Amino acid sequence: MSLSSSSLEPCPAACKPSGIFKQFSNPTGWLGWCIGQLMAIKNRERSEWVIELLQVRPNDLILEVGFGSGADIGRVSALATQGFVAGIDRSDVMVKQAGRRNTAAIQAKRVELQCATSSSIPYDNAMFDKIFAINVAHFWTEPLEVLMELKRVLKPGGLLALAIQPRIPNATESTSQETGKYLVNLLAVAGFEQIRCETKYVKPVSVVCVLGTTNLA
Ligand SMILES: C[S@@+](CC[C@H](N)C(=O)[O-])C[C@H]1O[C@@H](n2cnc3c(N)ncnc32)[C@H](O)[C@@H]1O
Repeated sequence: MSLSSSSLEPCPAACKPSGIFKQFSNPTGWLGWCIGQLMAIKNRERSEWVIELLQVRPNDLILEVGFGSGADIGRVSALATQGFVAGIDRSDVMVKQAGRRNTAAIQAKRVELQCATSSSIPYDNAMFDKIFAINVAHFWTEPLEVLMELKRVLKPGGLLALAIQPRIPNATESTSQETGKYLVNLLAVAGFEQIRCETKYVKPVSVVCVLGTTNLA
């Protein structure tokens, strides 16, 4: 079956990445570095909730897409003590910053961070138990193609969690709800199963996290 993103409605949390929004979509230079530090401080509550939903087990092999500051790579690798955590981010500035935050785990080969995009993930088929991305999916211009790539690297029965807290100007609770519906539809069209949407209020508007699993066959 050939799937194309052009038939989908745009993500309600998406906006044209210009000005400061461009930095959140792909941090560059010293400003990008500062934005990474800011994200590490400001996004803690949101991240801790999403990571709870992942129910990380000690042996899990986990991929984070768009790790930004790398704070969540650290949180997840502290739980997957016997496992492995990989991360990809398209910003080389974030790869450096996240590398500094996770030096010991990288040296111990429990964490690996690479500069790469979600449309071409540098890992083998069926490698990961769990994949998550927080405030990244609204930047995808071809979301269905990305989901097929995520499916490729997930094991059968593997878990995908996509969380978004809308940060567009004037975002409301309705933007969050519509974003949840958008993500549920995206996972359904991509063939994920057991799809559910969780919501948590974190100032200034609710975060939605949509979870789904790949087919066990
Ligand atoms: C808004 S930040 C969120 C960072 C982190 N997940 C958090 O919640 O604090 C988005 C991050 O995703 C990365 N990113 C955006 N689109 C990407 C893509 N298609 N492939 C890989 N990384 C991407 C950006 O470079 C940036 O570091």
